[in-house]
Amino acid sequence: MDAETTDRVALVTGASRGIGAGIARQLLDRGVRVAGTYRSGGELVEKLAADHPGRVLPVAFDLAAPETADAVVERVTGHWGRLDTLVLNAAVWQGGKLARIDLGDWWRVIEENLRSTAALVRAAIPWLGRGTDSGVVIIGSAVGSVGFPGDTAYASVKAAAVGFARSLAKELAPHGVRVNVLAPGFVDTDMTSAIPEASRRKIADATLLGRFGTVEEIAKAAVFLAEDATFCTGAVLAADGGWTL
Ligand SMILES: NC(=O)c1ccc[n+]([C@@H]2O[C@H](COP(=O)([O-])OP(=O)(O)OC[C@H]3O[C@@H](n4cnc5c(N)ncnc54)[C@H](OP(=O)(O)O)[C@@H]3O)[C@@H](O)[C@H]2O)c1
Repeated sequence: MDAETTDRVALVTGASRGIGAGIARQLLDRGVRVAGTYRSGGELVEKLAADHPGRVLPVAFDLAAPETADAVVERVTGHWGRLDTLVLNAAVWQGGKLARIDLGDWWRVIEENLRSTAALVRAAIPWLGRGTDSGVVIIGSAVGSVGFPGDTAYASVKAAAVGFARSLAKELAPHGVRVNVLAPGFVDTDMTSAIPEASRRKIADATLLGRFGTVEEIAKAAVFLAEDATFCTGAVLAADGGWTL
């Protein structure tokens, strides 16, 4: 049930599963309308829409097709006439140590993540900050600042998100748009489900709070940056249980 409804509209990428689905649910709980993108999990976003009649717009978006970003934003703004919040959550991950990973795969991780981020924000810019507080939140990663073996491509993308967000914060502040990065540590989702038990234990032991984070905890931090942190821009919020300390 929506606690209270507002006019606000958020676009959340990768809203079908994991952290993106958690962010979509928490925004809905606050009365924000959500356009949720999916690649293969359309039925999951449709289910969310059925649970929140008139307040969820499922939109297909593949990070591999950044040229469709304009159409995605047009779909949302054509439907609701506004766009206040953009949460760039969907990400392509493929691991592999640099000595062994196919360079084509390595570059695909960089290209699909970065091009889609730039394309979606660019398409959204004319709609953001039209008289109300507007927030762009990019879901980065703790791996972007401290690295992880097998993650040279993914960590490069997440490190780039910080420079991208800080530059964009400077470009968009005059228009009332805040741009921030949330940098989660290890979180229990499909993305981390293949980590072997022994490695999970090692990671948890290296985390001050002694465990992986939950989707709900990360979503809470993302919604804080998107909707509440009205004096934060260009910030990087670590939500990693102290893993990077
Ligand atoms: N889990 C972690 O430990 C962790 C830690 C730090 C940062 N993060 C970041 O948090 C964000 C969410 O991660 P997660 O763990 O929630 O991932 P997840 O459970 O694997 O979900 C990934 C989401 O992204 C979408 N997606 C994947 N590839 C896509 C593509 N090519 N085009 C469009 N959408 C695509 C998926 O859509 P479909 O289901 O429709 O295919 C799904 O909604 C990512 O930016 C990730 O890098 C995660």
